[in-house]
Amino acid sequence: MPYAHIRGWGKYVPPNVLTNDDLARMVDTTDEWIRARTGIAERRIAGPGETAVTMGINAAREALHMADADPADVELVIAATATPDRIFPATACMIQDAIGAQGGAFDLSAGCSGFIYALSVASKMIEAGQIKRALVVGTEALSHIVDWKDRATCVLFGDGAGAFYLEADEEPGGFLAFELGSDGSGGHLLTGPVVGNSYEPVVAPDLSKGYISMQGRAVYRFATRVMGRAAERALRRAGLSVEDIDLFVPHQANLRIIESAARHLKLPMEKVYVNIHRYGNTSAASIPVACCEAVEEGRLKPNDTVVMVGFGAGLTWAAAVVQWPKEPGRRARSKPQSARSWLRGQRARLLSMRHRVGHQVDELLEAGLPIPPRSKSKTPSG
Ligand code: COA
Repeated sequence: MPYAHIRGWGKYVPPNVLTNDDLARMVDTTDEWIRARTGIAERRIAGPGETAVTMGINAAREALHMADADPADVELVIAATATPDRIFPATACMIQDAIGAQGGAFDLSAGCSGFIYALSVASKMIEAGQIKRALVVGTEALSHIVDWKDRATCVLFGDGAGAFYLEADEEPGGFLAFELGSDGSGGHLLTGPVVGNSYEPVVAPDLSKGYISMQGRAVYRFATRVMGRAAERALRRAGLSVEDIDLFVPHQANLRIIESAARHLKLPMEKVYVNIHRYGNTSAASIPVACCEAVEEGRLKPNDTVVMVGFGAGLTWAAAVVQWPKEPGRRARSKPQSARSWLRGQRARLLSMRHRVGHQVDELLEAGLPIPPRSKSKTPSG
C-alpha cells in the first residue's frame, strides 16, 4: 500500500497589515481588549485584486517549487475555502489552470477545519492507489465577508493561504490518523453570506449583504470542548499518546482556546505552535501557514510527530496525526530548480492560453460564422 507523504509546503500572506490600533479607529475597541481576549496584534488584509484564488496560486507554486515538482503531474487539486471568488467555478479549478496541473480539482467547504478535511481526502486517494500526486490548498479572503462595523467579529479575522504538496511513496509514514467530526445543529452559531435558505429559497440573493455572523461565547465553548478530544481520538487511532507529540499545531482562532486545548492535553506550551498574533484567524489557511512558519523558525523538524487540530463553521472539527517528512522537498533550492520552476510557469501560461483560444475557436465554429474561403494562392507549380 502506498503512503501519502508531504513533499512541499508554501504560504502566502498579503503585505497589507491591519493593526489593532488601526481597528480602534474604525470600531469601538482597543488594542488591550483584542490582545487580552484573543492574542491577536495584527492581521493581513487582501489588497486590490488579491483573492482566495490569487493567494492560493502563490502558496501552491511555493509548495511545488520546494518539492521541485512538475505541476503537470499533479492529479488532484483541493482548495479548502469559505471565501471562494465565486460559488462556481471552483477556486481549485482556477488554481489548477494557473499552475498547469492536469487532474481533477474541487473546493471543499468545512470552515476552519477545511484544510485537515482536504488532507484526509487527498491522502486517502493516494493511499488507495487512485492518484500519486495531490495539491491541498487552504486559502481565505475573509476580509471580503467581514462586517467592518461589527466589533465582535471584525477584530478576529485575516487573509492568507497555505498549501501542501503530497506524493505517494512506499516508505511507511506521512498521515498516521485522522479524526473528523461535525454537528450541524450548531450551524447557526457561525454563519457566512446567504445564497439560499433551507426554508425560503432566495431567488436573487444579494451577496453584498452577507457577512460573517457569530455567537462568540457559544463558539468558544464548543471549541474548548472539541479540540483536545479530537486530538486524543486521532492519537489513539494512530496508536500514539500525547507524550509522542513533538509539535501541536492548532487552528489559530483565539490564544485562550489554544491554551485551553493544551491544558486539556496536559501539553506544555513549548510544544504548541502559535502565530495568531501576526495573522488572526485565517480559517482554512491557518494550519498550513502555521506549519510553514514553524519550519522556518526551527520549531517543526524532520521526522517530527505533529498533531494538527481545527474547528469551525458547520460546526466541524478535525484532527490529523502526521509524521513530518524526513527530507524537506526533493532537492535543496538551487538555480536549476528555480529555472525549472520558471519554465514550468511559462508552460502553464501557454497551456492555459491554448485552451482559452481553443474555447473561443469552438464558440466561433458553433456560432456558424462563415469561415473565410482560403485565398487561391499561387502554388510553386502553378
Ligand atoms: N472590543 C471591545 N469590546 C468588545 C469587543 C471588541 N472588539 N467585542 C465584544 N466586546 C464587548 C462585548 O460587547 C461585551 O460587552 P458587555 O459585557 O458590555 O456586554 C464584552 O466585550 C464581553 O463580550 P464577550 O463576547 O463575552 O467576550 P469574550 O470574552 O467571549 O470574547 C470572543 C469574545 C469573540 C473573542 C470570544 O468569544 C471568542 O474568541 N469566541 C470564539 C470565536 C471563534 O473562535 N470563532 C471562529 C471559529 S473558527
